[in-house]
Amino acid sequence: MSEAIAFSRPFFGEAEAEAAAAVVRSGWVVGGPRLAEFEQRLAAFCGVEHAVGVSSWTTGAFLVLHIWGIGPGDEVIVPSLTFIATVNVIRHVGAIPVFAEIDPDTFNIDPADAARRITTRTRVIMPVDQLGLPSDIDAIGGLARRHGLRVLDDAACAFGSRNQGRPVGGLADATVFSLHARKIVTTGEGGMITTDDSSLAERLRRLRHQGMSLSDYARHGQRPTQFESYPEIGYNHRITDIQAAIGLAQLNRLDDILERRRAVAARYQAHLAGHPVLIPPHVPAGLAHNWQSYQVRLREHTGWSRNEMMDRLFEMGIPTRRGVMAAHLEPPYRHEAPSLPLTESTAALTLQLPIHPGITAEQQDRVLRALDRVAAQIASA
Ligand SMILES: Cc1ncc(COP(=O)(O)O)c(C=O)c1O
Repeated sequence: MSEAIAFSRPFFGEAEAEAAAAVVRSGWVVGGPRLAEFEQRLAAFCGVEHAVGVSSWTTGAFLVLHIWGIGPGDEVIVPSLTFIATVNVIRHVGAIPVFAEIDPDTFNIDPADAARRITTRTRVIMPVDQLGLPSDIDAIGGLARRHGLRVLDDAACAFGSRNQGRPVGGLADATVFSLHARKIVTTGEGGMITTDDSSLAERLRRLRHQGMSLSDYARHGQRPTQFESYPEIGYNHRITDIQAAIGLAQLNRLDDILERRRAVAARYQAHLAGHPVLIPPHVPAGLAHNWQSYQVRLREHTGWSRNEMMDRLFEMGIPTRRGVMAAHLEPPYRHEAPSLPLTESTAALTLQLPIHPGITAEQQDRVLRALDRVAAQIASA
């Protein structure tokens, strides 16, 4: 019997296991040299001055908004078509999410719609590089500059992607990546903030560690002994050196990870071009996609629901996920949300196909055959 197809799976090898074990053996498992190295490598990769590791995307984005002083009464423009974490952090700081429409071809925020939603209370625009495809950050950045707003790039899924050759991570006032298991580079859980703003980076380092003025790493081995102070109230949003060591091993294989994902996506794209039932994702010129996810849209004329399609594929042994959710339809946000027809139809009609660096050609063949069988069933219905 052929092996079950995983929808998503981290691409780990012995190097990650060995790197984690080495940190455990060293005894310095948090706030140590591996974290410093991981941060330096990530900052260099993104072409920015600073990278600050945290426990997740969510805690990282929260800290950025908090340090920027975003709070009650302030508005943050955000697409609704996103994982709900993007919106939740706005509420965590007490601010108001203002939902913007997406471009249904790219699944990313529509800058023209974002512009229409700016008010005197708007402070931040938060584009999302959805599924790894960079958003139109130049248009969003221009808009923000004209209105005196900041840009926080939700690049949870977009590590390794590029916009006109420039790596995501250096294209906004601050960018936050996720290192969760479904992401391109994973440490199980974790997050990384990149920025050129030195004072932001300094406060991020402090606030992730209870407001401590001088980190354990900076104090280590100092003579005379240095003592820290706690000038402001902070949090525990730290990432461990075990995670950082795994992240470093993942960075060593980043090119391979991206290449394998690109190859899987290219096969899907070729097979689905002109497909009678599914519309493959569109990648605008100048954008390099990391293919964190592969999301397709069901054509509207089929008479089938997306869920029916997912059930049929499941029966054929093909795991799928629904497309990106519409956060404004969930109970915490429903009462304050406008109608967003493009977001709602996209959330209803999209599904994601298996993609990860370890998927074999034989497994992908099975996915492609199943898609064709479903198309034939629809045609004969
Ligand atoms: C677009 C987006 N933003 C934020 C997050 C939250 O990331 P984390 O789980 O690291 O907090 C995710 C996670 O899937 C995401 O896809």
